[in-house]
Amino acid sequence: MKKPVIAIDGYSSTGKSSISKIIAEKLGIIHLDTGALYRGVTWFALQNCTGGNGSIDPDRLFSSFPEIELEFRNFGGELILFLNHIDISKAIRTNEVSDNVSFVAKQKPVRDFLLQAQRSQAEKGGIIMDGRDIGTVVLPDADYKFFLTASIDERTRRRYQELLSLGITADEQQVKKNLIERDRIDSEREIAPLKQAEDAIVIDNTNLNKQETIDAILSYIDSF
Ligand code: DC
Repeated sequence: MKKPVIAIDGYSSTGKSSISKIIAEKLGIIHLDTGALYRGVTWFALQNCTGGNGSIDPDRLFSSFPEIELEFRNFGGELILFLNHIDISKAIRTNEVSDNVSFVAKQKPVRDFLLQAQRSQAEKGGIIMDGRDIGTVVLPDADYKFFLTASIDERTRRRYQELLSLGITADEQQVKKNLIERDRIDSEREIAPLKQAEDAIVIDNTNLNKQETIDAILSYIDSF
């Protein structure tokens, strides 16, 4: 039987990626965290495409696309992004990348550049992809679509803990501000905004732990 294609969208720090990773292991399918792609392009832009004032120059970034080689390596079902042969998985979690990624992600040429890279991973089925526009734009025909949400205070707490566990020091109020601002830009942008697909199942996990969220999602997925 064909393995399912699952789309998980939702607000920042609702646990989309860590939950998707565990579901992928459980179902024997692969997992792609699409936020890592936008973060990777942002990381590249911060290194190579800033203007005189240190902020990202979008035109310089667009003309640099031919210099960006994106490659996914499969580590036990988890697709890890390598950019120009470098493992950037830790570098893309810094506050500097978080503060700039929504600006990069709202640029149409960036979204066009990354769309095919995402779709081609789902061609063979058997994938769970998490992001903001997976159920609406990237994989509108996904077998299952979920939309995760949680209160801003709970999401701040989770993001703060995640940063600490990565050895990154952060100010909790600053983390909250970044989440609110990112969700605002992601929801208000013209192209592929963060929004719930009409046929998505909404899960508010403010009061659910990771396992309970996973169980809620799995309860909708037929055994295959
Ligand atoms: O999931 P994340 O926080 O790592 O995502 C980083 C940013 O990338 C987020 O602010 C919005 C953007 N993003 C997007 O626009 N579309 C996606 N499919 C995934 C992420």
